Formats: sequence, structure tokens, C-alpha cells
Amino acid sequence: MLTFAIEVARQAGGFITDASCDDLCVEHKGRIDLVTRIDKGAQDIIICEILQRFPDHAILAEEGFERPGHSPYQWIIDPLDGTTNFVHDLGMYCVSIAVYKDKVPYIGVCYNPVNDMLFSAQAGKGAFLNGSPLKVSQTKRLVDSLVATGFPYTHENIEDITARLSRVIRSTQGIRRLGSAALDLCHVAAGVFEGFYEEGLHPWDMAAGVLILKEAGGRVTSMNQGAFDLYEGSILASNSLIHSELGRLM
Ligand code: IPD
Ligand code: CA
Ligand code: CA
Repeated sequence: MLTFAIEVARQAGGFITDASCDDLCVEHKGRIDLVTRIDKGAQDIIICEILQRFPDHAILAEEGFERPGHSPYQWIIDPLDGTTNFVHDLGMYCVSIAVYKDKVPYIGVCYNPVNDMLFSAQAGKGAFLNGSPLKVSQTKRLVDSLVATGFPYTHENIEDITARLSRVIRSTQGIRRLGSAALDLCHVAAGVFEGFYEEGLHPWDMAAGVLILKEAGGRVTSMNQGAFDLYEGSILASNSLIHSELGRLM
């Protein structure tokens, strides 16, 4: 199943990079929330492959596809995480494919076709970047930590978000906003970032990345350090060593 997920992620990634010069047919899902025909086309490729190979599996995919299925396996798909970057030709985006078994993360794959970086994990078997094992950073202090975040498309809690951002800026080595939550999580897994937090996310933004991070030795909770819930939208992710210190700033 992992090999299949990797193949499908590469296939969708190839479609995205091949098509990126063509007319994108950009539509607005909200004021600044974009979708293109490439998001939809990549999703069609992934779903078509899954339905052929695993016809009884459940599927949840960002661009309006949900199928209950009659098996313990559910595929959770973001065909293009980082659409705004993609539309602006900033090569920081990925295909994110996860499989949950009995609602527990089982397989995660995030593939950035621009730089051919493929992050993958299977529960209990470790996390890998292009086949090499991944491990979170061993940094213990927030002041030495590089932390990533993201901002929701709706600006309802903008005062809370900017106040939190101000606290994090004052307490860390620096903050980054990549524009792809899935890749943010993979970069914590790879030891590039020590932490990541965001609210207002969807299950498909996090489903693969949380497994990749956990398998690399990281920790994932809600932003208030409660149990992580994929459907609740709030995430605090870290190398585990700075988790409480970063959590106190949320
Ligand atoms: C978005 C990205 C972004 C995050 C947004 C997500 P999309 O996903 O992950 O980093 O800040 O909240 O919606 O729309 O590009 O698939
Ligand atoms: Ca996304
Ligand atoms: Ca997306």
C-alpha cells in the first residue's frame, strides 16, 4: 500500500509540474482561497487509481470527493497542498496522500514534484526522505528553534493570531510561513524546523504529515496541548523537546 501511495503521489506530482505553464483556470473558493484545474486534475488521477486498486476503501479528498467505503481503510488526500504558492509559481507545494486504518494513521506520503522530495512513513516503520531515514532535531531550547506557522484563509481571529505570532517571534530564533502545512510537518520531521503550529486546518492538510512527523520522533497535539484531533483543525507539532515551551505561547 505504501509503494502504491508513493507511485500515485509521483504520478499526480508529474501531472502538476507538466501542467504548471498551461492555463490554470483559477477559481476562488473564498476571498483568497484558490483552486485550479490542476488541483482537480491531480485529485482525479489519485482517486481513479485508488478506486481501481482498492474499490472498497473509503476516500476523503479536498476538492469535493467523499466516499464512505466498506473497509477499515480510508484514504485522505490533498492533491495539491500549497495552491497559492503553485499559482504564484513558488515551488513550495506537494501532493499529500494518507491512509488511515481504523481511524489511526497507517501510511503517509508527501511529494514535492518541484525538487523531487518524497517524504514517506508507515506506522511503526519510521519516516523517510527519498529513502533515507528522517529524525527530528535535538534542539532543546525555544530560543534556538526555527518555527513554522500558517494563517487561515478567513481572518476571523486575526488579533489572536498576530498576538500569538508576536510572542513566538520574541521567543524563538525565527519564524517561517512556507504555505504548505503538509510540508511544514515534513520539515519538522526532517529537523529543519523545531516546531509548527496553525489553526483552521483541514484533515487533508495534516493527515500524511502527522504520521511522517511522529515516525521521525516528533510530537503532535492540539494548540492547547490537548489530544490531537485530525478533524478539529488546530495543531501544535514539534521535535517533542520544545513542545511544552512552545505550547505555553499558544
Ligand atoms: C493550505 C496550506 C497552507 C495553510 C492553509 C491550507 P491548500 O492548503 O496548507 O499552508 O496555511 O490553511 O489551507 O489550500 O493550499 O491546499
Ligand atoms: Ca491543503
Ligand atoms: Ca489543496
